[in-house]
Amino acid sequence: MKVVGPTRQKMLRDAEEKRRAFGESVRSLKQGKIQYLDRTRELPQKLIDSCRLIQNRLEMVKLLPSNAVVAEIGTDEGNFARYLLDTCTPKEMHIFEIDVSRIKPENLEQGISRGIVTVHEGDSSALIGGMPDGYFDWIYIDGDHLYEGVKRDILAAAPKVRDGGFLVFNDYATWSPSSMSHCGVARAVNEFCIDNDWELVYLAFQTMMYNDVAIRRRR
Ligand SMILES: C[S@@+](CC[C@H](N)C(=O)[O-])C[C@H]1O[C@@H](n2cnc3c(N)ncnc32)[C@H](O)[C@@H]1O
Repeated sequence: MKVVGPTRQKMLRDAEEKRRAFGESVRSLKQGKIQYLDRTRELPQKLIDSCRLIQNRLEMVKLLPSNAVVAEIGTDEGNFARYLLDTCTPKEMHIFEIDVSRIKPENLEQGISRGIVTVHEGDSSALIGGMPDGYFDWIYIDGDHLYEGVKRDILAAAPKVRDGGFLVFNDYATWSPSSMSHCGVARAVNEFCIDNDWELVYLAFQTMMYNDVAIRRRR
């Protein structure tokens, strides 16, 4: 139900008041030299020189190899997985999801019955660690968004993509404006790229700046 009129005004005022109070808390933490907000390490120019800007993630995935062996870490209802199936026509698609009850059966049942989709239930970093090295052409990572979780996923997934393969991340950010929560994706991705000489190849925009990024080992 859409709230209108004075109730809407009051709800907006309340939210704005809480935002101001939150901003003040963050500022006082900063004055006390307590780091609350995540920061990324800065990427050196050589790791972004080849990066192409893309309109959105729906367009970006069209640039990834098709008819390929792919994975999605974190699938939720499976709407994006279905888009990937239709658009990228993978020959194998592995889904790693800790809570498979979230998946809408209609999104994956056709892929499963055609032997293209395999669903792995459980923690993504543990499960993907059990896949053969160099198995995937690309892996879309959109599971745990906290820094430690993303880091675990990257370290587990990186050896599993072939030479020249891609790791792709949703929500390449340090902060989630809609849930007002920490997002460790950008920090973990930049750290991994700098420490392992991987480069950004695509940066795909999202309208609230929950952008996607695709990375690849530098040649
Ligand atoms: C943001 S949703 C994924 C959305 C989906 N990729 C899309 O674009 O529509 C995040 C998903 O990651 C799953 N998840 C969170 N932590 C996980 C973990 N450690 N292992 C596997 N899945 C995880 C959650 O259950 C949730 O379904």
